[in-house]
Formats: sequence, C-alpha cells, structure tokens
Amino acid sequence: MKRMLSGIKPSGQLTLGNYIGALREFVKYQNDYEMIVFIANLHTLTVYQDPKELSQNLKDTIALYLACGLDPNRSTIFMQSDVMEHAQLGFILSCNTYMGELNRMTQYKDKLAKGEESMTSGFYVYPTLMASDILIYDPDFVPVGEDQKQHVELTRDVAMRFNNRYGETFKIPQPLIPKIGARIMSLSDPTKKMSKSDEQDKGCIYLLDKPEVARKKVMSAITDLVGKVQYDPINQPGIANLLVIHSALSGRSIENLVKEFEGQGYGTFKKAVADEVVKLLIDLQAKYNDILNQHILDKVLAQGAVKARVLAHQKLKLVETKIGLTID
Ligand code: TYM
Repeated sequence: MKRMLSGIKPSGQLTLGNYIGALREFVKYQNDYEMIVFIANLHTLTVYQDPKELSQNLKDTIALYLACGLDPNRSTIFMQSDVMEHAQLGFILSCNTYMGELNRMTQYKDKLAKGEESMTSGFYVYPTLMASDILIYDPDFVPVGEDQKQHVELTRDVAMRFNNRYGETFKIPQPLIPKIGARIMSLSDPTKKMSKSDEQDKGCIYLLDKPEVARKKVMSAITDLVGKVQYDPINQPGIANLLVIHSALSGRSIENLVKEFEGQGYGTFKKAVADEVVKLLIDLQAKYNDILNQHILDKVLAQGAVKARVLAHQKLKLVETKIGLTID
C-alpha cells in the first residue's frame, strides 16, 4: 500500500480552506493509502502564540480531525512534538539546505515585502522542518493545498541532494493537490487566500464558527457588478470562489451549478452556498462535541505517537549512520 503524509499547523482555528484543501482529502484517501496525519504544533511557534490559546487550538484541531472522519484505527494520527526525531532530522536537513533556497520561499518573501520586523529565525528555516516531517516517513504522496506545493518541492530538492551526497536514503515524495478547492479565497478579498491568520475575520470561515455567523459571512462575501453567476476567476474572483466552495461541498460540478443559477441574482446563489456551508458546520460541530464528550483525545494521540516513533526513529538512525554521526 502506498503511503501518504500530511499535517496542519494549528496557529489558529481551522478554516474552511483547511477543510476543503486538505482535511477532507486526508479522510478520502485513508481508505486506499496508509495515511499518516499529524498536528504540526512546532510549526505554530514560528510566530508568538499565547500558550493558553495554543493549547486550546491543539485540542480543537485533534477533535476536528476525528470529527471530519479521520479514523485512528486506519490512520496514524499524532502530535509533532511527541516524536522528537522530527526536530533532530530538521536540523540535519537545514544543514543540507541553502539560504538561497529559503530566500525563495513565497511565505518568507511576502513577510519580507510587508516589512515585517519581528520575523523569527524559526520562521525562516521552517521549510526544512517541514521537509523533515515528510522525509522521516518515506511517504509516496503529500496531499496539500496549492500554497504548500512550494514547500513539498523544496523537500524533494533537499531529499535528492541528500541522496546524491550520502547514497539512497529518502523516498522522493510527490505533492498531491486537489482538483477543486486547492486555494479557497478570502470572502472579503477574493484575491487573497482564506487564512487562519487573516486579520479580516469576515473573510474567513472557521470550522467552529456558529453556523449563523458563517451564513452572514457568506451572504456578505465580496462579489462584483457583472451580475452573472459564471466561472471567471480573473474578472469575477468572488463568484468563482463561491462556486468552488459550493462545488467542493455539494460534489456538483461547477458547470452544473452555473447552469442552475443562470439568470438568478447573487442573493439566491449566495444563499445556496451558505446552505452548504451551514450544513457542513452543523454536522462537523455535532461530531466535534460528541468526540470531546468521549474524552479520547489523549489516547488517540498516544497510540499514534507510538506508531510514528518507530518509523521516525528507524529513519533518523539510518540518516545518522549515513552522515557519519555514529561510531562503528
Ligand atoms: P497550513 O496549516 O497553513 O495548512 C494546512 C493545509 O490546508 C491547506 N490550506 C488551504 N487549502 C485550500 N485553500 C485554502 N485557503 C487553504 N489554507 C490552507 C494547506 O495547503 C495545507 O495543505 N506548513 C504546513 C503544515 C505542515 C505540513 C508538514 C504539511 C507542516 N509539516 C508536512 C504537509 C506535510 C502549513 O502551514 O499548513
């Protein structure tokens, strides 16, 4: 069975973008692949986190993983910091990555362009920790949204370089980007990605938003003056985004939706999108509450960490031997 690995960084509440671009893909794939899914909690530290809030976000994230349908009996689910090998391999890989490569990472360049002054060195090297998260498990595929593709490509480059230097060590993973919903845009600025660190709260739907709050956000999504429901991401990015959200959640094709809403106003269309979103949130939140009441999170994480540690430890030992960190 081919192996897949992915993770989410819970530096805030999980969003509809995380769900459509990543989480529901993980759930879909767990039937046909050996799935490893973790919570990238070390990655959150690249920007300051309030400890109490972080802890709550971690708990919500694991509960949401399960609420979305990740099954601990089929998938390995764990917390990154419970498997210490990630950080150790991360350092080794940062010594096999050039600053020039990190300078080209879009997220770093964006922060630099915004003149952000409090960028941490952890943020700068985080793509090498991500490479470690991946390579330590030898996955065949890494399902991610569009924005993480560049990091998986860097991971491939670092792995190939390492293999060339030290001999075959890492499998070269492939990114797997969903056909629909790889980049869900902000509802208040559809030229920007929907993001948990969005200052404009109105643009982002959180999976734990009250359904009526989410409905309002969809109803006030920015559209355009064209007045026609059609898929034109360049000239009508807001409507295109809403079409993608509807299609991703309802499973209907964009073509089919465009036909249905032809000649109808944006209000009617937005209401249909809001209905899909609200349906999802009601279902997810009921399952989330149920999972919290079962008090199973610690057990699920412990079980996952045991499985992950075995794999990670083996790979780290191999790497250490290859690079000469051990004595004969
Ligand atoms: P993160 O936490 O920003 O995002 C988690 C996943 O959600 C996807 N995603 C989106 N997809 C569609 N539309 C959006 N608006 C949207 N926003 C987020 C992301 O593409 C991603 O797949 N560095 C990673 C976490 C990570 C990781 C890894 C992932 C750490 N180590 C190893 C894979 C493998 C991150 O910050 O993702």
